[in-house]
Amino acid sequence: MARMNEHFLKLTSSYLFSEIAKRVNTYKETHPEADIIKMGIGDVTLPLPEACIKAFHEAVDEMARAETFKGYGPEQGYPFLREAIAEGDYRSRGVEIDAEEIFISDGAKSDTANFQDLFSSDAKIAIQDPVYPVYIDTNVMAGRTGVFRNGRYEGVVYLPCVPENDFLPDPPKEKVDVVYLCYPNNPTGAVAPRDYLALWVEYARRHDAIILFDGAYEAFIRDPEIPRSIYEIPGAREVAVEFRSFSKTAGFTGTRCAYTVVPKECRVKDGEGRFHSLHDLWFRRQSTKFNGVSYPVQRAAAAVYTPEGQAQVHANIAYYMENARIFREALLGLGYACTGGENSPYIWVETGTDSWEFFQILLERAQVVCTPGAGFGKSGEGFVRFSAFNFREHVEEAARRISTVFSGATP
Ligand code: MLT
Repeated sequence: MARMNEHFLKLTSSYLFSEIAKRVNTYKETHPEADIIKMGIGDVTLPLPEACIKAFHEAVDEMARAETFKGYGPEQGYPFLREAIAEGDYRSRGVEIDAEEIFISDGAKSDTANFQDLFSSDAKIAIQDPVYPVYIDTNVMAGRTGVFRNGRYEGVVYLPCVPENDFLPDPPKEKVDVVYLCYPNNPTGAVAPRDYLALWVEYARRHDAIILFDGAYEAFIRDPEIPRSIYEIPGAREVAVEFRSFSKTAGFTGTRCAYTVVPKECRVKDGEGRFHSLHDLWFRRQSTKFNGVSYPVQRAAAAVYTPEGQAQVHANIAYYMENARIFREALLGLGYACTGGENSPYIWVETGTDSWEFFQILLERAQVVCTPGAGFGKSGEGFVRFSAFNFREHVEEAARRISTVFSGATP
């Protein structure tokens, strides 16, 4: 009989969002009449922007005619999309990124999950805590950690993100090889000022470390002082890979399109001290294991960069951010301390109680779903996360319900 990859046995439980869905379904079975408002997983509700839909339809029609039909596309993605990204998301904002450095994919989840393939199995990794579970779980699967004990995996450097450090932990004292950073942060909603990112770039350069920078929520930054990309920091091109997604920016969670930037200067060493280009390694990995994103989806994504696409995307983001403002105010009104919700679609709320217990109470008393902070890591205990991705009337209703249920006393 085939033997399993026993590193999977170290994983704590089911994937966080599967666990939440399971608990919500169990509640629904016993309360079929409940009108549940889901503010747990960050899944968009507004339809794709009209410009994307139009491009999508036209591209589907191209697939229907022999003269315009497309088979396999270019491995890194179509140049029309990579060029649009390089110009729209970087060069127009003063950051030099070449289209050749951009890899189109089906999601920042898969890219942040897969990128660790390129590092040695004994690479030392650092993650923030709380953290998007994909970063840690994929390293567990790859055997890069010890067992799970006292709420943490052995062999991993955890960087607690707590109110005492404004959710911006300093780089560790020791040397690590790979650091996962996510800003605007999922789940805390915190944003990283320029001098904070500069600390990390300096750390990575000093220790020959690579920063895996997840910028999936970059489009929600409204403060002009906050960098939108790690490459706004001098020296980052040699040490940072950046992940971006159309999921939250343009409503592509069900359509699937994202991209990863791997600058040509980013290098890693082999056991004999020879340098290798991360760009070449990622190309080798992707061209072996991935066959690209469909042509119509790439056309739909490119439409984000047209003037109409930009206006529509900005309107959708403003809609979600108004949701965030409404809900955040309701929480503040109840006396909860909150971060996020200002440059991020997530609101991180200090409840001071067991976070799965809070999740359950909220579900039962208000029929509102949140994400328990403990699901993101040990330092997430005592917090819950609310997502602003929903319809306005649902957010207003959820705000009314929690204000009624919890007014006067925190649960
Ligand atoms: C979240 O809720 O954290 C995200 O939706 C998860 C994801 O993007 O995969």
